[in-house]
Amino acid sequence: MAAKPRIVILTGAGVSAESGVPTFRGSDGLWEGHRIEDVATPRAFERNPALVQTFYNQRRAALKNVQPNAAHLALAELEKALGERHVTLITQNVDDLHDRAGSQNLMHMHGELLKARCVVCENVCHWDEDIQPTSPCPFCQRTGTLRPHIVWFGEMPLYMEEIETALYGADLFVAIGTSGKVYPAAGFVRLAKAAGAHTIEFNLERSDISPEFKEHRIGPAGHLVPTWVEEVIQAHP
Ligand code: APR
Repeated sequence: MAAKPRIVILTGAGVSAESGVPTFRGSDGLWEGHRIEDVATPRAFERNPALVQTFYNQRRAALKNVQPNAAHLALAELEKALGERHVTLITQNVDDLHDRAGSQNLMHMHGELLKARCVVCENVCHWDEDIQPTSPCPFCQRTGTLRPHIVWFGEMPLYMEEIETALYGADLFVAIGTSGKVYPAAGFVRLAKAAGAHTIEFNLERSDISPEFKEHRIGPAGHLVPTWVEEVIQAHP
């Protein structure tokens, strides 16, 4: 029996598309009707906090109407079968569908819709309702200081040290449903390759980073991912 591989998986908006969560880069270049720079930058928040809060309040509320799909569930199953030490899941998604599917060794590198952060005391807390101008920070009690715990353009992604450690130790790196347009995530495949990992891309179509991958599986994640997970589990019973 082959030794269990250390698998690092990067997911993007494509893994949640079949759950009904819209991807970022639709054909119109808009994210749910907004230019990214109007809602997803620190500058946008300074300029128009009400617009930005409303935008994320709507995204947060929309989570109540979506469920994990077969791809999220299969990835959680893979972790259960191989063990947390062998499966590291990095997601660029701010939805909670991997969490709800049961993945434990999971890093939300672009933040989470279900968390809020105080811009004054910098504490982070669970938040599943709207952030209002009158919402007090549960830690310092100030009002008007909470923002979505989301990594906006120009801000530093989270967990970078842990992610680099995982990538340098990977035997297999898998990217699922990401366009490869946003760094540093788009560069992870190169780090994993430098560490000697085999690389597989799952996407509906070829992406900007497709040439970096050794293997490609083209189609919907909800179909491809469970099939691949089954293969891996059977190879490492
Ligand atoms: N199955 C597999 N892949 C899919 C599916 C599906 N059902 N549906 C869409 N895709 C693919 C698309 O072909 C595209 O390559 O998912 C990718 C989605 O790309 P983006 O919308 O650019 O999302 P992502 O790569 O996650 O964006 C990265 O950009 O705006 C920022 O911070 C935001 O985390 C986000 C980051």
